[in-house]
Amino acid sequence: MTDVTSTDTSLRTGDLPEITGYFNGSPVPAFALDRHHTIIKWNKACESMTGMAASAMIGTRDQWKPFYDTPRPVLADLIVDGATEATISQYYPGSAQRSVLMPMAYEAVAFFPHLTYEGKWLHFSASPLLDHDNNVIGSMEILQDVTKQRVAEEALHRAHEDLEVQVAQRTAELLRRNAELTEVNERLSSVQQQLVQSDKLASIGQLAAGVAHEINNPIGYVFSNFGTLETYLTKLMVMLDVYEQAEELLSAGPVRDNFKVVRERIELDYLKEDIPVMMRESMEGIVRVRQIVQDLKDFSRADNQMEWQWINLHRGIDSTLNIVSNEVKYKADVVRDYGDLPDIECLPSQLNQVIMNLIVNAAQAIGPVRGTITIRTRCSDGPDPSVWIEISDTGSGMSAETQARIFDPFFTTKAIGKGTGLGLSMAYGIIQKHHGQITVDSTIGTGSTFRITLPIHQPAGDPH
Ligand SMILES: Nc1ncnc2c1ncn2[C@@H]1O[C@H](COP(=O)(O)OP(=O)(O)OP(=O)(O)O)[C@@H](O)[C@H]1O
Ligand SMILES: [Mg+2]
Repeated sequence: MTDVTSTDTSLRTGDLPEITGYFNGSPVPAFALDRHHTIIKWNKACESMTGMAASAMIGTRDQWKPFYDTPRPVLADLIVDGATEATISQYYPGSAQRSVLMPMAYEAVAFFPHLTYEGKWLHFSASPLLDHDNNVIGSMEILQDVTKQRVAEEALHRAHEDLEVQVAQRTAELLRRNAELTEVNERLSSVQQQLVQSDKLASIGQLAAGVAHEINNPIGYVFSNFGTLETYLTKLMVMLDVYEQAEELLSAGPVRDNFKVVRERIELDYLKEDIPVMMRESMEGIVRVRQIVQDLKDFSRADNQMEWQWINLHRGIDSTLNIVSNEVKYKADVVRDYGDLPDIECLPSQLNQVIMNLIVNAAQAIGPVRGTITIRTRCSDGPDPSVWIEISDTGSGMSAETQARIFDPFFTTKAIGKGTGLGLSMAYGIIQKHHGQITVDSTIGTGSTFRITLPIHQPAGDPH
């Protein structure tokens, strides 16, 4: 044994007999080959690791058998052949390396699927057996089962990867939340704008209602005075005719000349023609002003006390149409196809708001080519009598994906600043409050039809 530890750590053949006992008793699986690759040692630990008995192995060259499917050199064979590092690496790619402890020895790690049922990871090192002149006369290989470490390492590696994946997922989640928050923030500021806007609209509405109320009185007496004035003028004309006839009977003289001069100066004939025309035109103007005032009053109906009111919907639709006529008149013809509607119990100004949103949407959906907006109303009998209003347009229509989202708050396909995407969601809320339904039927390129169905009666005592 002294030689083993003398100049280098390689074994010498002379030591073999002495190490046999140690070799067999060693808990480390090991085997040795002679220079002809014949197995000369196969210890007990090796038997139990490989499942191959020493008696079956010693004297053969079957060292590959426990490890591989087909014959090939094991590390100990390569050492006997004095293989170069490059050759050894070809057999054990990625893991073969020179041993740090023994200069002429190599070590490697590999997985052996045939060792036991699940396979084993082995760390093995082989070193040459030298004679006293340092000639290689064989080799010895020791094996170490590192499956547990490998499994642990792999688990650790996987845990690491999992951790990385988790970190990546969390980061993505955080980024997503951040994006969501940014979006919510944008929405909030848009709601704020919308609130400011609707606040403004509400005050404009109140102002309009106030102005309408103020104008209503004077326009009332202008209208009634105008009627009287027309009667008076007709009478004056009759009187004038009589004067003209009398004038013809006057004998020539300064009185008759004076009549003629004044008549010509004031162009009496023209006045007699023009006065009735002007009266008619002015009457039309007054009637229109009265209508506008009435529409404003109807639209901003004073139902802020939010009480259900019995109302005929046609009047609200007409006043709404008048109010949005500027949005509509250059884009579409409006067809009113009204059925016979009973009064219904509702919040009129809110329904007007809904109808206005639908009409404006319809007008906005119509492109440069003039289209048609049809407003159809009907009453349907049945156990729960109801009425419906349809607003159809010959506009762009909507895809199924768009239709699925139109009632979502803030959903809009319109340019920034053009639409807030609140019109239909507000409409939906108001119709819900009325225990009604709003549905849509739309075909791309053909147009859309929105239908509102409303019950005639609201449930008793419903606070809406
Ligand atoms: N008659 C219609 N024809 C085609 N698309 C429509 C029609 N009505 C609504 N839409 C679609 O539904 C979307 C949502 O409508 P909604 O009235 O809620 O919002 P908006 O009109 O975009 O904006 P806002 O009404 O707040 O000004 C519109 O952007 C549009 O894409
Ligand atoms: Mg809209």
